[in-house]
Amino acid sequence: MKFYVTTPLYYINAEPHIGHTYTTIAADTLARFYRMSGADVFFLTGTDEHGQKIAEAAKKQGTTPAELADKNSGIYRRLWKDMDISYTRFIRTTEQIHTEMVQKVFGKLLENGDLYRGEYSGFYCVPCESYLVPEDESNPLCPDCGRPMSRISEPSYFFRISKYADRLQKYIETHDFVKPDFRKNEVLNFIKSGLNDVSITRKNVEWGIASPTPEKYTVYVWFDALLNYLSGVGYLHDENQFNTYWPADVQLIGKDIIRFHDVIWPGILMALDLPLPEKIFAHGWWISGKDKISKSKGNAVSPQKLIAEYGIDAFRFFVLREIPFGMDGEYSDETFKKRYNSDLVNDLGNLVNRTVNLVETKLSGTVNSAPLEGQLAELTGSVQKNCSEKIRSLAFSEALEEIWSLVSFLNKYLDEKAPWREGCGDVNGVLHNVVHGIRDAALMLAPFIPSTSLKIWNILGLEGNPCEKSLASAGEKLPDRLKTNKREILFPRKK
Ligand code: MSP
Repeated sequence: MKFYVTTPLYYINAEPHIGHTYTTIAADTLARFYRMSGADVFFLTGTDEHGQKIAEAAKKQGTTPAELADKNSGIYRRLWKDMDISYTRFIRTTEQIHTEMVQKVFGKLLENGDLYRGEYSGFYCVPCESYLVPEDESNPLCPDCGRPMSRISEPSYFFRISKYADRLQKYIETHDFVKPDFRKNEVLNFIKSGLNDVSITRKNVEWGIASPTPEKYTVYVWFDALLNYLSGVGYLHDENQFNTYWPADVQLIGKDIIRFHDVIWPGILMALDLPLPEKIFAHGWWISGKDKISKSKGNAVSPQKLIAEYGIDAFRFFVLREIPFGMDGEYSDETFKKRYNSDLVNDLGNLVNRTVNLVETKLSGTVNSAPLEGQLAELTGSVQKNCSEKIRSLAFSEALEEIWSLVSFLNKYLDEKAPWREGCGDVNGVLHNVVHGIRDAALMLAPFIPSTSLKIWNILGLEGNPCEKSLASAGEKLPDRLKTNKREILFPRKK
């Protein structure tokens, strides 16, 4: 089994904020889950470095686009490393391999008659890098982001997407391609309203890939960027790799870039005669007040700051637990702290801490084999099954709720059995059950919070790294005479 997952390529005009980390954490969780399920995983992410928006940002910052790209793409790469993002390949659209492939694809489509020369006359939104039609042409504001648009009129090459409209409509109607389901109609209505061919060159934008045409145009940044999903996995330069992983299994995007990914992208793939990705899943936005969180709105939430205060795993956990994937969610420091203190400090951290404390004091640090409590065995089995199903359908917060039902059971079980009380009966039997349950919770949590899972693994005295184990090993017998290690506070309480 193979699994190919992608994130959008992030623009490098500014530094990452919580919204960017969101898509990447979700993709990483999927990649880790599929690896632990035995799949050969390819996880692609990277940076989108060309276009007018980047050129203007560089100018404003008194630097060159190439320097800005080096700097900010480096910041993304470092952040992903700090956040335990296990990507296979980080692609930059300024790489030679990508540039060559874009030019070849351009040439191929030109030859096939899928591209033609014409004249674009209309409006352009630089922040969205998008050709859109404003409501009021005398005061042209972008219908997507509300910022002023520029009028352009220039010769251009067009991608004949209109030719694929019917095929695309049928495909979307008959496949589970547009996700979540409630987005399907939105995309179908857009297609049914009539697809205009897409201008895919820019005459006066220098910072881009040169189009392989007699005129000195550059390739429209979205046409360039979408093709990364092919170049990043070897299309036209590593046939073996490409054939192994293509088509993508899940492509994650935010809801603002649905039309590019659910309409233009499959159109390009049809023109190239390539199979379409299995699923394109659009998540919602992190908002603050009524606004989308973004650098330009000045309400950006810094992942680095939250990580410094709470730790990487608390951040990873929060974004996937707090809001159902696909919906918008309000960010506030208060909700972050509340979620952290209740789920991670009180439920998980405290469970591990008091269990290991009891093993140390009541069992001199060693848990012996014992029969597993039937109710716990049953619960572990159902949690594992449900949790896997939820992750496969990208319902991350529900998957975490499933794992939390195990964590809550263990806390309650420990309270009820109270192995700290004199004459409470089979202390080893009780603690064996709890340690068994914690081990399984840590295993299932590994795709979400990998370094915490490893810490728990080490505290329990287990061998290896849970991230490298099979998820199917949940429920297996614990090693006999398990010697727990020194305690460590997993999540310090925040006031
Ligand atoms: N460069 C394009 C994507 C090209 S893919 C071939 C782009 N870049 S972006 O940096 O502006 O956005 C990247 C992703 O971050 C998008 O999926 C977007 O939805 C996501 N987010 C940016 N702000 C967000 C929030 N406030 N909340 C959640 N995600 C949002 O678009």
